[in-house]
Amino acid sequence: LLSVPPVQLGINYFHMFPEEKDPIWQNPCDYKRHIAIWSQNKSCNRLPRFLVVGPQKTGTTALYSFLSMHPGVTSNVNSPTTFEEVQFFSSNNYYKGLDWYMEFFPDPANTSATMLFEKSATYFDNENVPQRVFSLIPRAKIICILIDPAKRAYSWYQHMRSKADVTALNYTFYSIITADERMPRHVRELQSRCLVPGMYAQHLVRWLDYFPSRQVFIIDGEQLRNNPIHVMHKLQQFLHVQPYFDYSQHLRYDSQKGFFCQVLTDRRNKCLGRSKGRTYQPMDEVSAAHLRHFYRKYNINLSKLLNRLNTPVPDWLQEALSDED
Ligand code: A3P
Repeated sequence: LLSVPPVQLGINYFHMFPEEKDPIWQNPCDYKRHIAIWSQNKSCNRLPRFLVVGPQKTGTTALYSFLSMHPGVTSNVNSPTTFEEVQFFSSNNYYKGLDWYMEFFPDPANTSATMLFEKSATYFDNENVPQRVFSLIPRAKIICILIDPAKRAYSWYQHMRSKADVTALNYTFYSIITADERMPRHVRELQSRCLVPGMYAQHLVRWLDYFPSRQVFIIDGEQLRNNPIHVMHKLQQFLHVQPYFDYSQHLRYDSQKGFFCQVLTDRRNKCLGRSKGRTYQPMDEVSAAHLRHFYRKYNINLSKLLNRLNTPVPDWLQEALSDED
């Protein structure tokens, strides 16, 4: 039997198994030996029971704010670096480890709300995330929101313009979405952020590789926008969250904002900030036609997938598919 000092042993090991260099966190409480060495003051309950995974610009902040009104659920505390989102599973934060993540959540033993959740809209289309989430919290429920991918792409572009992103300011939407490999890298990057998350079926399939479909809830973002009371009713049924919260008493349409908002008093509502539900020029017809064509095959796949999952096909998807190019 031959051995080497521990550091060299480690180097040799990762040389033999390079794919193991990237850690995958598992739940310490699922393993007897881990619990035995887990400090007394740590609790595996400080992990979310459900995740709102995105994608960005589909109404994730509205859903987050509606959920936060519910007395039976609590989210993480806000992250100072990524605004309210923790973005643990989709970024280098993952390497900060489990303790770092759990610190964002209250111990349910100390709060009246029992169900913890997290919303990070960057999770939906990130290749690593489904596996990472499943390894740590395999029983978690996964919630995503889908709107017309063309609309989502345009909303992202407008979002970047309002953040004074130089590329978005200097290039038209059409030149971004039609950029080819001869265009500068920053243009291609913005193009990718506009277009890739909207290839919904291919991202959903990645989640479904890990999570059984009964744990995945797909929200039609148009319904969330136009009839959030109904969506929140359905979502509560899916989550089995107690007590039942009657959103018809807590949400109403605000004609000034043009969206549903939280009821504060008879006359006052609390709406999302100006960065949510922006007003901007409608998309030009040439870009719309280009995107209809571009997304067609992805939308066909999405409609097949939704049928397989027994999930209603949203109106916007039926319309997109009935349009002849
Ligand atoms: P726009 O600002 O382009 O209209 P996210 O929170 O995921 O970034 O999504 C932002 C989008 O949520 C907004 O995009 C808006 O259309 C949509 N939205 C849906 N319901 C909303 C609500 N009640 N209040 C504000 N925005 C809402």
